[in-house]
Amino acid sequence: MSNLLIRNIHLLIQAETEQRSLVRGKEMSQIPMLSNAYVLVENGRIKAFGSMANCPERADQVLDATGRIVLPAWCDSHTHIVFAATREEEFVDRIRGLSYEEIAERGGGILNSARKLQKATEEELFEGAWGRLQEVMSMGTGAIEVKSGYGLTLESELKMLRVVRKLKEKSPIPVKATFLGAHAIPMEYKSDREAYITLIIKEMLPRVAGEGLADYCDVFCDKGFFTPEETIRILEAGWKWGLKPKIHANELGLTGGVQAGIAQRAISVDHLEYTSDVEIEALKQSNTLPTLLPGCAFFLGIPFAPARQMINAGLPVVLATDFNPGSCPSGNMPFVISLACAKMNMLPEEAINAATLNGAKAMELEKEYGTIAVGKVANLIITRPMMSLAGLPYAFGSKVVEQVVVKGNLV
Ligand code: NIG
Ligand code: FE
Repeated sequence: MSNLLIRNIHLLIQAETEQRSLVRGKEMSQIPMLSNAYVLVENGRIKAFGSMANCPERADQVLDATGRIVLPAWCDSHTHIVFAATREEEFVDRIRGLSYEEIAERGGGILNSARKLQKATEEELFEGAWGRLQEVMSMGTGAIEVKSGYGLTLESELKMLRVVRKLKEKSPIPVKATFLGAHAIPMEYKSDREAYITLIIKEMLPRVAGEGLADYCDVFCDKGFFTPEETIRILEAGWKWGLKPKIHANELGLTGGVQAGIAQRAISVDHLEYTSDVEIEALKQSNTLPTLLPGCAFFLGIPFAPARQMINAGLPVVLATDFNPGSCPSGNMPFVISLACAKMNMLPEEAINAATLNGAKAMELEKEYGTIAVGKVANLIITRPMMSLAGLPYAFGSKVVEQVVVKGNLV
């Protein structure tokens, strides 16, 4: 038995005595907050927390958090951290005036990543993804979802998902795997999309599910990618194999992706840069979570999703990074939180809720992660000294996360 005591915590955030499974609407601006507090961790889980007046005297390891904030580690529910190469050249092409869609149309974008990934070995891919996982953990990520979708052939999609499986086995933080064979139509299928959709449904899904390689099924339902009708067929096939949907929708236009996801009882619909009142109303009538990825809007220069309207309408907004080589080559959750506050008018409390508890819910991990509660896994962030919670998004781009605890161990 080993324990860790964090004492003299200036502000302890998101510590709850009654467990919640998510927060929506107005609740998002409320966050449990204790000042002058302690947290005791035993065998990797939260054993106790409270005011310093009741702090235990001894522990195997003691950390002093004077002036610092302690909060649950981020739950990043949307990433693509398995990839073979960066796409710096496309970044420069965009600076020169090409759009993300124009680059994709000429065979760049996702297809560029797929060509490179098809040539890479499983070991090379694992090494790259492992490095990215370490990097995001050092910035406070304590649970993560990872997608396939740069394979686009049966063999390469399986290769990617085996890399994700290896991440799951080796990682000290939980990893959820999502099959995204429907990320783009490969060049050789451009004149016969139906053949690629058949390949996904008839060959990829059975192998992926048969080998237990995925938790979720994703489709890029958007302008120039998959239509809502195609999306629904693929998600229905995924359900038959026990894979719940989590989809990409409304990044490039008002394309009906949100409605398709809701119709398929998706856990979450992600992106939503293009969202109207109709989508917000449909989300209100559903259990599907709107997941916003402001790092992508920032990097591509597209509109930010209307987070404010969504929260005002009572929705449970989620924040994630979308870490990938094309639209958001960063897995920096603190920066995502800064963007959410500065560009989407989310309050610091709302952004922290969206990146912890609601992020955990979007990966079905809310019983074990996402808040500080007795019995939950002790994945925690200790910030640098700061006055208030707002100091976190305020100091954008700075190293606000000083120490990270994963299962009770310092990273
Ligand atoms: O979430 N939008 C689709 N997929 C990724 C980007 C893929 C890429 O450009 O490599 C996203 O933004
Ligand atoms: Fe994505």
